[in-house]
Amino acid sequence: MQVQTHVDIHSEWGIVAARQAGRKLAREIGFGSVDQARITTAISELARNIYLYANQGRIQIEEVRGSGKNGIRIIASDEGPGIKDIRNVMEDGFTTSGGLGAGLPGVKRLMDEFNIDSELENGTVITAIKWLR
Ligand SMILES: Nc1ncnc2c1ncn2[C@@H]1O[C@H](COP(=O)(O)OP(=O)(O)O)[C@@H](O)[C@H]1O
Ligand SMILES: [Mg+2]
Repeated sequence: MQVQTHVDIHSEWGIVAARQAGRKLAREIGFGSVDQARITTAISELARNIYLYANQGRIQIEEVRGSGKNGIRIIASDEGPGIKDIRNVMEDGFTTSGGLGAGLPGVKRLMDEFNIDSELENGTVITAIKWLR
């Protein structure tokens, strides 16, 4: 059975709920505590960005089953303003809010696969996968 869950983000509580849901699913899939922490940190960053920059959106978390490998996929989506300069945003040290997390470059480092699909005035979909090994 493929497991998946989603959390709507429209307040700080949603960020907490998304972290908890992510940790639970990561544990169920078989990730160890270090990877669980990486995954929940990535979810926090993505959920916080939704809350800060798009006001609301959704974090979907699901098990992925590939050929011979399983993992977890995080899909952060919103219908906010979109990301203006994705190239700048992916450079380390580029942040507008001075947050503690390492931002989107941090999420990319914490996960194995990372993709941003963003359109100005239309919204953003960020997908990240971590494989179980
Ligand atoms: N979901 C989003 N919608 C619109 N803009 C976003 C979103 N996520 C990130 N951004 C933009 O990308 C920038 C970089 O994000 P990030 O790497 O998380 O750093 P920080 O949040 O600390 O500024 C943000 O400052 C913001 O301008
Ligand atoms: Mg951020």
